[in-house]
Amino acid sequence: MDRLSNGVLVLRRGLWSRSAVPGVRVRKEKTRKIDGREWRNWSPRHSKLAAGIIRTKLDPSTLLPSEGSQALYLGAGHGTTVSHLHDHMCGLGNEHKGSIIAVDISPRCMRDLVGLAKRRPGLLPVLADVRNHESLLPWLNGRVSWMFQDVSQAGQVEIFLNAAKKFLAPGGVALLSLKSASERIVEGGANEHYDSAARAMETAGLDVLEIIHLKGLEEQHALISSIAPVDWPLTSEARD
Ligand SMILES: C[S@@+](CC[C@H](N)C(=O)[O-])C[C@H]1O[C@@H](n2cnc3c(N)ncnc32)[C@H](O)[C@@H]1O
Repeated sequence: MDRLSNGVLVLRRGLWSRSAVPGVRVRKEKTRKIDGREWRNWSPRHSKLAAGIIRTKLDPSTLLPSEGSQALYLGAGHGTTVSHLHDHMCGLGNEHKGSIIAVDISPRCMRDLVGLAKRRPGLLPVLADVRNHESLLPWLNGRVSWMFQDVSQAGQVEIFLNAAKKFLAPGGVALLSLKSASERIVEGGANEHYDSAARAMETAGLDVLEIIHLKGLEEQHALISSIAPVDWPLTSEARD
């Protein structure tokens, strides 16, 4: 058993989060009792963050936000990954006092996220286009120490960098789940997409830590992990 945090562990290569809502499953996931508490299986086939944690060559706990911190999740979908993050960051009755701002443009997804949030204090669903920063600002208490983007649309890198410049704190972790099929076809294929996204992140001033290939778990996807320098966001003069 490898504990990544109080609420996340790796057990025989499977990932588990300690349920903040015991007795309630989100996606018919398996549950098990460990040390008298209920844990939910966090499938890397249904969550790119879980796939990244399983596949990274670096310390996997660096991909997780801190317990009790504020996280911005862009493209929350139906809330599968968000629910596991909530187990980790907030815990039972939000005992850790974390908050997750979970943004999605789809009303159908929002219905599921609002249902999830009813039992999960600290989870804040926001129906918005992630490109519309003004609609996100009221939900945030300053810049965030962790942000994650998983939006299935073209221009993912630019959307991510604009959000990071606006919302990410110095020293914060920014993770981009990149779907190569959402972008136009280029020579070099998916790998060239991932490399050019990483280059764009470096040019913007982020320190790219790793391009984590998710092939076999999530086809045509990579997770790019990065960290903001202490003087983030860089001024335009500093970037030149
Ligand atoms: C692949 S799904 C997210 C799955 C989710 N991250 C998970 O692991 O459970 C991509 C989501 O991005 C949302 N999306 C696409 N473009 C968006 C935009 N401009 N603003 C907000 N959400 C967007 C879609 O509605 C969809 O729910």
